[in-house]
Amino acid sequence: RQSADQLIIDAGQKQFGATTCASCGMIYSADSLEDNFQHTQYHQRFLDSIKFVGWKKERVVAEFWDGKIILVLPEDPKYAVKKAEDIRQLADNELGFQQISLSCPSKAKTYLFVNHDKMIVGCLIAEHIRQAFRVLEQPERAKDMTKPDFMEHHRAWCCSTVPERAICGVSRIWVFSLMRRRGIATRLVDTARNTFMYGSHLTKEEIAFSDPTPDGKLFATKYCET
Ligand code: ACO
Ligand code: ZN
Repeated sequence: RQSADQLIIDAGQKQFGATTCASCGMIYSADSLEDNFQHTQYHQRFLDSIKFVGWKKERVVAEFWDGKIILVLPEDPKYAVKKAEDIRQLADNELGFQQISLSCPSKAKTYLFVNHDKMIVGCLIAEHIRQAFRVLEQPERAKDMTKPDFMEHHRAWCCSTVPERAICGVSRIWVFSLMRRRGIATRLVDTARNTFMYGSHLTKEEIAFSDPTPDGKLFATKYCET
């Protein structure tokens, strides 16, 4: 009896030895052979997905000292659409919503940030929308009572019930973990605002972030107020 309990405790402690890979984001137990194997495989697939060999026809919509932004449209050649799809899947793995598909994939615009090491280090998927609901600040009391853990796993943000006019919905935004806090997401959103509608520049009020994660909310709050 006692030894069985002890086993359970040991098994539980192993879990605390979980490692998060700084590049691919996978959480695995470094002491487990099986986990190490799965990580190595996933890690390689991740690197293959973000690798960008260059295309004959690239729709470059912005250029910077550290990279460029390429726009992929649904009617583009298969290899381009496939790449956009691969990156969306990486982002979805990290965001944890594997099951949710785009509301209208045939109209979505994908912006890819490619750096000088030929890696896709950022992605923004924009869709046409008519209205959005503003995310409301958490009341102070609820903040104290909610464990950070809970907030991490359940995106329990309260939304206003009053619809507001919006044109461009950011359904996904993702930046490679080792390249964050270098303004890549900011430049992706700026570029989407400039190129989403031909010949017009969208204001910050005309774009909306759907279902933001804690990271997404911090970014969106900062972006919208500056
Ligand atoms: N914590 C606090 N502030 C932040 C954070 C953060 N994690 N991320 C961005 N900000 C704020 C900062 O004020 C930052 O300016 P500073 O670095 O000068 O302080 C400002 O936003 C601009 O940040 P960027 O460098 O442009 O953002 P970045 O390129 O790092 O990308 C992103 C932000 C996309 C949220 C990234 O952290 C990420 O990919 N996270 C994982 C995926 C995710 O959660 N995506 C959002 C999902 S919601 C949605 O898709 C609609
Ligand atoms: Zn890894």
